[in-house]
Amino acid sequence: MQIFTKTNNLINYINTLKDKTIGFVPTMGALHNGHLSLIKKSVKENDITIVSVFVNPTQFLEGEDFEKYPKKTEADKKICQIAGVDILFLPTVNEIYFEDEATVLSPKIKGYILEGYHRPEHFNGVLQVVLKLLNITKADNAYFGKKDAQQLYLIKKMVKEFFLRVNIIECDIVRQADGLALSSRNAYLDKNELDDALLISSSLKKAAKIIARGERDANTVKLTIKNLLKKLKVEYVEITDREFNKIETIIPHNSRILIAAYAGLTRLIDNIEI
Ligand code: PAJ
Repeated sequence: MQIFTKTNNLINYINTLKDKTIGFVPTMGALHNGHLSLIKKSVKENDITIVSVFVNPTQFLEGEDFEKYPKKTEADKKICQIAGVDILFLPTVNEIYFEDEATVLSPKIKGYILEGYHRPEHFNGVLQVVLKLLNITKADNAYFGKKDAQQLYLIKKMVKEFFLRVNIIECDIVRQADGLALSSRNAYLDKNELDDALLISSSLKKAAKIIARGERDANTVKLTIKNLLKKLKVEYVEITDREFNKIETIIPHNSRILIAAYAGLTRLIDNIEI
């Protein structure tokens, strides 16, 4: 596995690869089995797999956890090496960002609802860095998790609208045996908070069950979830179609339930396709 910290060195190296197919997995590190599932898929489906670990400052809002975001570079290197990653890209901020940059703006509506409403301009930062990374890596296939469903949707939208030549590969959410969606931020949780966090995935599971039994009213399902999440500070419980339009009536195979809630001080998100 080759490790690059300088963008220009990586670009020069990628230019020598010519006919090889390139798979790319962008991450912010503290890699877990969710990341690993994307990495393994890429290794399987491409000649070369590039993983980036970059805690992107522009997607964090003032007062969020940018400074304390978990950093596990040595462990990340080992995980990538064992998984068969060919190139690990570990840039510093100055290798990615310039002064007074042209920026990417996320869509006014779909980028400013749900996550975008509670984290205004978060998605501008995400799209900015993903566009840069896709251009640097010249990826044929780029792998993203459904854990961040709105992020994935907006990246697909950007790729389509900017006519980028990359396939976006959607990967299923990886969960612990108890249902908790894996996240680098789970590292912040103590024992009690972990118990509370479990309510998020279990309430989604319960909602799916009610819907399987015939419930179609979105408000009823949302209320059921909110009742199950009483112990947590809930930011939103929303039901949308797969294009992130809010819906009143659940349409099986074209709906998604999304939750953002705090376990202690840690903000967690999860969702389920219905
Ligand atoms: P990060 O949170 O590190 O996630 C990197 C990728 O792993 C994302 O595509 C995310 O959806 C996926 N992922 C995280 N947890 C997962 C899980 N439990 N199951 C499946 N996939 C999971 O998302 C980001 O970083 C950043 O916003 C990034 C796209 C790298 C831009 O900075």
